[in-house]
Amino acid sequence: MAYRLIIVGGGRIGGALAQGLLRAHFVPTSDLAVVESGAERRAELVDELPGVSVLPTLELDNVDDHSGVVLCVKPDQAEGAARLIGACGARRVLSVVAGLSCARLEAVMPGAVAVVRAMPNTPVVVGKGASAISGGSHVTKDDLDWAADVLGSLGTVVRLAERHLDAVTGLSGSMPAYLYLVVEALVEAGVHQGLTREVSRQLVVATFEGAGALLAQSGETPEELRSQVTSPGGTTAAGLRMLEGRAVRAAFLEAVASAAERSRQLGR
Ligand SMILES: NC(=O)c1ccc[n+]([C@@H]2O[C@H](COP(=O)([O-])OP(=O)(O)OC[C@H]3O[C@@H](n4cnc5c(N)ncnc54)[C@H](OP(=O)(O)O)[C@@H]3O)[C@@H](O)[C@H]2O)c1
Repeated sequence: MAYRLIIVGGGRIGGALAQGLLRAHFVPTSDLAVVESGAERRAELVDELPGVSVLPTLELDNVDDHSGVVLCVKPDQAEGAARLIGACGARRVLSVVAGLSCARLEAVMPGAVAVVRAMPNTPVVVGKGASAISGGSHVTKDDLDWAADVLGSLGTVVRLAERHLDAVTGLSGSMPAYLYLVVEALVEAGVHQGLTREVSRQLVVATFEGAGALLAQSGETPEELRSQVTSPGGTTAAGLRMLEGRAVRAAFLEAVASAAERSRQLGR
């Protein structure tokens, strides 16, 4: 049986994509298949995704001219999986594999397969992801629109030239981890000031979510929002002066540059 959407690799990202796509009603369950080589993970997926076909391997009759395949395996497994996807006759592939170029995927698939490369991030799990996409050499506007629709059901999508994807990897791809580090440090800071860990965590997580929503919804810049809570000579000014003195801004510039460089290295 052929499926409209086939996710190859049902790990963390593949599983999250499947859940998000179903939540967004992007495809009916009967039109979605997840191909997962691990037997234990397959059993979990069957429980997590009722009604979705969970297959051990992709076969010729799973793919027809209307099928789109989303490649969600680890970088070292990707070319092998793409070879099989190409051999099964897929015409359209969206890859979320970090660091693997469209050209390398095109090279292992026969004919003119439309390859779109994406860099999503983990908030796709709750439909609040940020993804960048770029198209390979056989991609039409329809293929890019399709890829934008797939990832758009899980958050924000921007379209960029492929040369910018390493920068995206270092920025929004890695940014959840940077922010969780900041959250961890702030929870600890509350404990150091005498709050219980649970109260500190509650306050920090709610502030994190609220500050993000304010930034996204108010239409104001981060600088404006920051200056609104920074009274001259006040408490926040004292805290910010300490952060600037410790070069926190420069540390973020360096962090993104290092992560982007690592992405470039992995892609070579
Ligand atoms: N995690 C992130 O934050 C993030 C963000 C952006 C992009 N990505 C990219 O997303 C991709 C997937 O990451 P992940 O964290 O979801 O990895 P993961 O949890 O390891 O999931 C990959 C899954 O694919 C299975 N698999 C491997 N080869 C297969 C094949 N030929 N056919 C079917 N299934 C196969 C693996 O099974 P086995 O374990 O049995 O091999 C595994 O369960 C990576 O390329 C990564 O670069 C990840």
